[in-house]
Amino acid sequence: MGYQSMRGNSSQLLSRIAAGDGHGENSSYFDGWKAYDSNPFNPSSNLGGVIQMGLAENLLCLDMIKDWIKEHPEASICTEQGLTDFEAVANFQDYHGLPAFRQALAKFMGKARGGKVKFDPDRIVMSGGGTGAQETLAFCLANPGDAFLVPTPYYPAFDRDFCWRTGVRLLPINCYSSDNFKLTKAELELAYENAQRDNITVKGVLMTNPSNPLGTTMDRDTFKTLLSFVNQKRIHLICDEIFSGSVFNQSEFLSVCELLEEEPSYDRNLFHIAYSLSKDMGLPGFRVGVIYSYNDAVVRCARRMSSFGLVSSQTQHLLAHMLSDDDFTSEYLAENKRRLHKRHGEFTSGLEKLGIKCLPSTAGLFVWMDLRQFLKESTENGELELWRVIINDVKLNVSPGSSFRCTEPGWFRVCFANMDDATMHIALRRIGDFADKLKEDTTQMQNKKRFNKKLRLSFCRLNDGAIVPHLMSPHLLSPRSPLVKASN
Ligand SMILES: Cc1ncc(COP(=O)(O)O)c(C=O)c1O
Repeated sequence: MGYQSMRGNSSQLLSRIAAGDGHGENSSYFDGWKAYDSNPFNPSSNLGGVIQMGLAENLLCLDMIKDWIKEHPEASICTEQGLTDFEAVANFQDYHGLPAFRQALAKFMGKARGGKVKFDPDRIVMSGGGTGAQETLAFCLANPGDAFLVPTPYYPAFDRDFCWRTGVRLLPINCYSSDNFKLTKAELELAYENAQRDNITVKGVLMTNPSNPLGTTMDRDTFKTLLSFVNQKRIHLICDEIFSGSVFNQSEFLSVCELLEEEPSYDRNLFHIAYSLSKDMGLPGFRVGVIYSYNDAVVRCARRMSSFGLVSSQTQHLLAHMLSDDDFTSEYLAENKRRLHKRHGEFTSGLEKLGIKCLPSTAGLFVWMDLRQFLKESTENGELELWRVIINDVKLNVSPGSSFRCTEPGWFRVCFANMDDATMHIALRRIGDFADKLKEDTTQMQNKKRFNKKLRLSFCRLNDGAIVPHLMSPHLLSPRSPLVKASN
């Protein structure tokens, strides 16, 4: 069969999933990554390339992890010192995971939340990163066609991770800049009522805390409102706490676990956490995800499903050693916060000097940058037009707010922890040059408008009868006249 005829029949040849485009990757968020891939910035070989600021990756503390690995060769089965464990680890494939790994992970998760809560190792289920955790939870909690409500703006890949293979839907709860994008009870209720009106079964609320893309944490009152709401409606709450150890101001972070411990009247069967080591430890390539559910049936089902996305035993073995080293994890978490805080401060103050503001934030690997002043028109198209200029001319991959389902045009997520200091300064310089150019263009345009207005007024006066014949003479309107140029 030729290529053409195969393409023509692909909808019959393949499954609906394979032939369809429910993968959620048709988004400017992913397009930006492609633009980076085709011309990546490199300080020695491609200075003019695109700087990747669309990837929430943390490279700031990898030196500490590498040092630990060098000091502990016995933790890896691929070194002479660790080879004695080779058979036991290489042959291990129990979907419960290595007990030492689950214990170390439970301890680390408690520490990452400031030691205020404890996790039970028997409730920890592994998955292929936070991505796998989201999908497994969707499979356990909802049927195809059911929905979860999600506050906007939200992490774009949820449309793929949570929805694509499960058939579950996400419905937005709109949040606005006038409230610093905080979730409000009115919008939560509205989203729920709209779904009911449309005969859609709402199975729960999905949220990120700290928020991706805002970098903010949920305050106690809002959290309590949300918990009471789901408890009263008997729907689930999934808290994606993947950035819980990346809060620079730890006292501000409140995990759902803390509230559940404080308030025993909530039905615990409704609460679930997604976590991963991709952000707080900067190890997205290790694909270590965690589902932590307070519901026994969900733990059971998710564990069976984890066969499809187990973490390799070699990785579990290494991390079991690393995460049970108390001194190391304490030092790492503290240093990670310090470095993130410093980088966040340098980047946001650099932007502020250029006249660009960000939503105040205390967590995460990114900022929510306000470029509303630079929009030609305040629409999604206006935002995408600006985004294309930023990618193609300024050569920065930032992610437009519309790809996060933000209802207000002009906001962009910008990642700052996936590069070294020098690259960050180059990025700031590029943003500065760009902002200057836009401001210059705007001033020129305003001057032009003002000039044209004056011109129109003077012509009006002429028509009003105050005729000064020589002003009508052809030489005034010669092609070299500034008036002609200004009106072009
Ligand atoms: C909120 C959130 N959840 C889940 C993920 C996926 O994480 P992982 O790389 O562990 O699959 C990400 C990654 O950016 C994320 O930001």
